[in-house]
Amino acid sequence: MAERVVLAYSGGLDTSVGIGWLKDATGKEVVALAVDVGQEGEDMDVIRQRALDCGAVESIVIDAKDEFANDYIVPALKANALYQKRYPLVSAISRPLIAKHLAATARALGADSVAHGCTGKGNDQVRFEAAVTALAPELTSLAPVRDFALTRDKAIEYAAVHNLPIAQSKKSPYSIDQNVWGRAVETGFLEDPWNAPIEDLYTYTQDPSIPREATEIIITFDQGVPVAVDGKPVTPLEAVVLLNKLAGDQGVGRIDIVEDRLVGIKSREVYESPAGIALITAHEELENVTVERDVARYKRGVEAKWSELVYDGLWFSGLKKSLDAFIEDTQKYVSGDIRLKLHAGTAVVTGRQSKQSLYDFDLATYDTGDSFDQSMAKGFIELWSLPSKIAARRDQAAK
Ligand code: ARG
Repeated sequence: MAERVVLAYSGGLDTSVGIGWLKDATGKEVVALAVDVGQEGEDMDVIRQRALDCGAVESIVIDAKDEFANDYIVPALKANALYQKRYPLVSAISRPLIAKHLAATARALGADSVAHGCTGKGNDQVRFEAAVTALAPELTSLAPVRDFALTRDKAIEYAAVHNLPIAQSKKSPYSIDQNVWGRAVETGFLEDPWNAPIEDLYTYTQDPSIPREATEIIITFDQGVPVAVDGKPVTPLEAVVLLNKLAGDQGVGRIDIVEDRLVGIKSREVYESPAGIALITAHEELENVTVERDVARYKRGVEAKWSELVYDGLWFSGLKKSLDAFIEDTQKYVSGDIRLKLHAGTAVVTGRQSKQSLYDFDLATYDTGDSFDQSMAKGFIELWSLPSKIAARRDQAAK
């Protein structure tokens, strides 16, 4: 029996041609695996059939939307994960999930390798291969676009010659990756970083400048996980889908950034993540009232490191797992309600309440009758600044 390779299949031109390309280059049978992470677009049954029509020996579709929300989006939310303080890791968190299913499928079917359609210039190739290696070190990763020089022109020609059932419509000028956590758009005229994005780049968000009534919502969290919106219980996936609509309709979550890729290139990226920005904004503020000061301060550094590790393809690494354990521990009391006003491209917290709140009105109030003993502050400051005082005396004496 021929060796098998499991290909991460999107249904697009590159991975469709990749099926035959892989077969020709390696002699292996190709199993197509399409993972549904809420990318919407085409019907998954159509995608499954197309892989068979393009020569796959088997074609599998996995609905991983809930798994993606529960095991990848929720940890990112608990980490308030924003790479370079802006990018909610839309593509970066989907790759380890797809890689996990690639590795599991390869093992189940006795394949010796997996494959993906990434080029050699991006982060996603690293994320796929680093994740596969961490989970199944015996598997080899193949990348037809990168390793067998499958260029766009060659792909179009191959599809025509072999009569592959792929729409040969004019190539979209953009490279787009999308899932339920957001949408990434790159290339085309965006490659000039001075060019402003145009309205038709966006599909998850409405134009924020169109005048409209604000939307006010209440998001309830339980230990860092969104569990209800306006009092109605939701799963994490339902929360994300609902907020994509509510926040997206208000133009929330558009991001335009020049970002540092792992491979050393600076690249211009446009993202939309309405649910991502709304949920992180709400979650962060609930932490402000429920997490004690030093834990919260320390967590900000952990969040930045977590985001870099995930961006850099190290989802299944030891350090990432250890940081997860820290983050999980910080979420014990992150329960309560956040009122969020969505309007004109912004998500603004206007209220917060929690049974676990550390906010003490009697301590905080400037009204008479507060319980804070101000006389303690004088001595506190003296001891707090004592080391500086002693050092300053020494420095003066040395002059
Ligand atoms: N630059 C982003 C990242 O590295 C998005 C990549 C999306 N991929 C794409 N083919 N557009 O996470």
